[in-house]
This record gives sequence, C-alpha cells and structure tokens, in this order.
Amino acid sequence: NYYAEEYRPQFHFSPEENWLNDPNGMVYYDGEYHLFYQHNPGGNEWGPMYWGHAISKDMINWDHKPIALEPDDLGMIFSGSTVVDWNDTSGFFDGGEGLVAIYTQNGEGQKQSIAYSKDKGRSWEKYDGNPVIPVDPEIKDFRDPKVFWHEGTEKWVMSLAAGKKVMFYDSPNLIDWNFMSEFGEGAGAQGGVWECPDLFELPVDGDSDDTKWVLQVDIGDGAIAGGSGAQYFIGDFDGTTFKSIDEPDHINWLDYGADFYAGQSFSDIPDKDGRRIMIAWMSNWLYANRVPTEEWRGSMSVPRSLELKTTDDGSIKLFQHPVEELTALRDKELFRVENQIVDSIKAADLLDGIEADVFELNAEIQLDQPVDFGIKVRMSEENQDETVIGFSESKNELFVERSQSEELYFSPYFNGRHAVSINDSKVINLKILVDKNSVEVFLQNGEYAITDLIFPRDDSRGLDFYVEDGEVTINSLEIHSIKSTWK
Ligand code: FRU
Repeated sequence: NYYAEEYRPQFHFSPEENWLNDPNGMVYYDGEYHLFYQHNPGGNEWGPMYWGHAISKDMINWDHKPIALEPDDLGMIFSGSTVVDWNDTSGFFDGGEGLVAIYTQNGEGQKQSIAYSKDKGRSWEKYDGNPVIPVDPEIKDFRDPKVFWHEGTEKWVMSLAAGKKVMFYDSPNLIDWNFMSEFGEGAGAQGGVWECPDLFELPVDGDSDDTKWVLQVDIGDGAIAGGSGAQYFIGDFDGTTFKSIDEPDHINWLDYGADFYAGQSFSDIPDKDGRRIMIAWMSNWLYANRVPTEEWRGSMSVPRSLELKTTDDGSIKLFQHPVEELTALRDKELFRVENQIVDSIKAADLLDGIEADVFELNAEIQLDQPVDFGIKVRMSEENQDETVIGFSESKNELFVERSQSEELYFSPYFNGRHAVSINDSKVINLKILVDKNSVEVFLQNGEYAITDLIFPRDDSRGLDFYVEDGEVTINSLEIHSIKSTWK
C-alpha cells in the first residue's frame, strides 16, 4: 500500500523514503512545477545532502524524479534556488533557454556553485568553474542563495544568508557575482543564524502600482514557538539595497506554529498568473531528526499563496492562503451548519459521530459575548489524543495545543501550545487543514497561520466543538474529507 505507513501525509509532499528538509530550487517552467529538496538518500536522519527532485503540473500531485544533484569535491549540496535563464545570459544554452540552479556547497567552508539543465530539469551539468562565490574565511554561515531577475535594473540579484544578516549580490550572467549591500544588523529576530532568505515584490492591497518588497528570512533558533522559524521584513528594494519600513525592534512572524521553516517561493510563475507561492519544510531543528516516522522523515507544507494587505491598525502584513488547486482534492462533505446559535451544551453534541483524519474545516464564528471556544481534532475515544485549535477571549489569542498525542516523548521540546494575539474582532475565521501528521491553521482570512506537526494514533479521528460558559453564533462551519494524492 503506497504511502500508507503510519503518519504518512496524504496531501502533503514527502519523499518516497529517507530524510527531507528544506524545499530548494522551486521553479515553474514549461507547464511544470519543480520541487527540489534537501535530501539524504542514505538514511532517515540529516546527513550527506543531495537535491531530491519532484515534478508536478498543479503543485499538489507530485511525481518523484531521480536525484538532481549529488555531493562532489567541493562538498555537500545545500539549499539554493533555480531560475529560468530565458535569454541565455549564462551562455550555457547555445542562444536558447534553460534552467540554472544556484546552491551552497558545504565542505571546507561554505561557497556558492551553479549547475544547468538543458532538458527541463531531468539532468544537470555542474558548471566547470565552480564555485562562483568562494568561501569567505570571515563568515562561517554563508549560504542558501535565492536568485531572481530584477526587471528594473536588468540583472540577476542574489540574497544570501550570512551569519545574522542577508547579503545581496548582482550578476549579468549567473556566473560573475558582485557584492552590493547587506541587511540585518540588529533587525528583527536575532535568536539564531539566519538561513534561506527570499526577496520578492508584491502589490499592496492588490494594487500593482503600489508595491512593496518582502524579505523572508528564517532563524535557526529562538523563533516564536521555540527552535527554528520564519520571519519577514517589509520594505523597498532599488536593485542595490533593501530598506525595511518596520521599526527596528519589530518582528513579523510568518507562522506562529513550530513547524514552518526554510520557506521558498516559486521562481518564474507567469506574469498573467501573478501569484507568489511558497512551500516550507514542516519541521523544526529542535526535533526534526527524531520525529517518530521511519521509512521517510520530513514533509512539506501545502503551497501557500502570499499577499500584502493593509490591516485595521494601518500596518501592512503578509497574508497566506492555501492555493486554490487544493480544492480539487475536496471529497465528501462530512458536516455543514449555518447561522446557528450554540451554547456549551449544544456544542458538546454538535460534531458527535463525525470522524475524519485527513480533512479541511472552514468556519466563521461570531462572538456575541466574551467567550472561549474551539475545535478539537484527531481525538481518540478515551481522550488520549487530541489537538485543540481554540480562541481564548481573555488573552485575545488563537492557539493550537498539541499536548495530547500518542507520540510526544521523542523530544522534550515537542509538547506545547502555540498562540498568536490577534487584532480585536467579533468574528473569528478559521481554515484548518488536517493531514495524518500535521495541522495547518489559517486565521482571520490568512492574516495569521499556525503550522504544527502532530502524531496521533491512526484511529483517533473524532472531532469536538466546545464553547465555555456562554454561546456563539456559528455563521458557518463545514468539513470536507480530502482525497489522497498518492494513490
Ligand atoms: C536550513 C538549512 C540551510 C542549509 C540546509 C542544510 O534548514 O540549515 O541553511 O542550507 O538546511 O541541509
């Protein structure tokens, strides 16, 4: 039974076997989405790093491909990006076009190398002049190049993580790189080294004449839910320098859960589509090597479409939505109610008899009075397992609590409650995606996200809606099972 092992994700990407961490080289080319990823083909823990590879027409159903890049004399193949070299700036494509991958090699120090493919990513040739950016003896952590074509100045721009900063380089041809500027001194969260930067431009409130630049950067430790996590800065980029408009001590978290790391956005999604779509690794360096799966270890988030919106307090924020392609996986409608006032007693019976392990839940709940409410998923009959997605009125926060699961003891850091304080609102909007070993929660129409791994018993499929001391109006609540993409 393909992809039927315990905890095996059914609508998230995971490798056929062995270890996976960061998404790499995400690019759209000629009708195909490419996902490369940090992979150890020889074991289920982090080790010698290769680029694994998969291809999809919709970002949802993936075909596994042979390994794309393997270690060589310069070292392992660490994280990086891929672009389409439309105009053969590199000279690799005899005047045509093709794919160029830009990645870190970890050996004696960290340096940046490139490789190219003339057959739509099926085979790769390493450039014979590697590395294209040599080791800098002053900078130990010097990695994860993300490259894009900057229209305004007609050149390639690279963001590179360096210690607790991001360095920007430019190049006419993807081979010769020139250092331009750096960003990060004292900015944002500084609890660990910065990794996997990604710089891109987005319209504000859908207005393509009013754009801002987003610099997303991960930190290896000290993130909001503990351990590794993702932050972002909003600002301006003129082709040379990035200037943030955030207050220096302000931190924007991309996700408030423990398991959303090293996110990267697709390169070369056609302009007419205009979407900026990110996939991240669903794990945390605090315990990634120990999560209780054996055949494979590590999976990706669902693809998320990113938008900049002005919020009620006047600040601009990054909103996230699961891509609409996912709705094609909706299966049976398991439950639906609309416009119903529910008190504690009614709530207790509301979802009786509903069972689901891989599903999507959408809800809009109106708070007619101060009250705590929530939804429990992946519950077992004897209350050994449950994951709570709830709203605490007194704290004005939304949270995921994963402290009751079959498997918690593989790491002292796993157990916990991950919360976000929200702007005041009388209406709480929730989109919850549940798979065999994860919950991804999108709150207030994508203004906040909480992503957490969970490890419940396979037969823990119960649900519960609760309201504590009071009542709420359920404007809508619907649950659909989700089809597996691996059958
Ligand atoms: C982030 C990271 C990257 C590095 C890769 C190594 O998770 O540490 O900085 O390139 O993983 O696998």
